[in-house]
Amino acid sequence: MSDVTPLMEMSDISVKFGFVHALKQVSLSVRHREVLAVVGDNGAGKSTLIKIMSGLLHPDSGTMKWQGEAVTLPSIRAAAQLGVAAVFQGQSFCDNLDVSANLFLGKELRDNHLRRDDETMQERTRQVLQSLSSAIRVGQPMASLSMGQKQTVSIARTLLDNPQLILLDEPTSALSVMQTAEVLNYIKRMRAEGQSIVMVCHDLPDVFAVADRIAVMRQGRLVGVLETAKTSYETVVALISGIDPETVMNETERIDALTDAQARAHALRGTRAICLDQI
Ligand SMILES: Nc1ncnc2c1ncn2[C@@H]1O[C@H](COP(=O)(O)OP(=O)(O)OP(=O)(O)O)[C@@H](O)[C@H]1O
Ligand SMILES: [Mg+2]
Repeated sequence: MSDVTPLMEMSDISVKFGFVHALKQVSLSVRHREVLAVVGDNGAGKSTLIKIMSGLLHPDSGTMKWQGEAVTLPSIRAAAQLGVAAVFQGQSFCDNLDVSANLFLGKELRDNHLRRDDETMQERTRQVLQSLSSAIRVGQPMASLSMGQKQTVSIARTLLDNPQLILLDEPTSALSVMQTAEVLNYIKRMRAEGQSIVMVCHDLPDVFAVADRIAVMRQGRLVGVLETAKTSYETVVALISGIDPETVMNETERIDALTDAQARAHALRGTRAICLDQI
């Protein structure tokens, strides 16, 4: 299989929830060994896209390919068998169990006598946490972990089956600066080991820190896919906000639109100033 053939390819994917058109003819490919960020406003369709890629949701129309072959993903299990693993937004844990039990929740290993094989699960947990360079202890109760450490366990869970494609829906939301840096490092390490990562993220500095490409969603449509090295915050913010910098508007419309984009840019990038002339 050539590396030029995308790992996953979606063509004209549409999803409706009643009257809500959550995805409108989205065509997007994930390349081998890349971090692809998915950005967009609330309700833009980012989580829906991740759910389609993970087999949790099924498109109303459109087609998918895995390494060049047409596939359907009827379930998360079917996607996992291909090599896809996902961490969904707001995923929760069993706080009364330890790290190892949470990692294997729903897929506990059994020995030859069909007894729970705690020893092997703990050993495998240790290996996976080590591959993330994490200081979390295998037998530590989940309730004692920080938000960032819980996020690490979520990511570790995806690595159990050695997937080729890892889908992360807002992996850094609600994390401190240090915890975010740690998660971004894991993402880079996974790419270095040959995996591809699709990361939904609201935080543009995080996106620019790790993503090779940025897919911008707006109102269910994919409005652009940009090479991170060749684009700017301002271009991404303009696309998220629905502003076409090339469109000729009258002066009042342009100022209104840019002020709106500036406010969004500030929200997305913290305190850094934004230069309106660049939009
Ligand atoms: N199960 C559902 N039933 C009905 N509508 C839904 C469902 N899931 C999503 N939607 C709607 O589909 C649209 C896209 O939602 P989605 O969760 O994909 O957005 P998002 O980009 O992930 O937003 P956020 O940044 O807030 O997480 C929204 O209008 C949402 O209300
Ligand atoms: Mg979402």
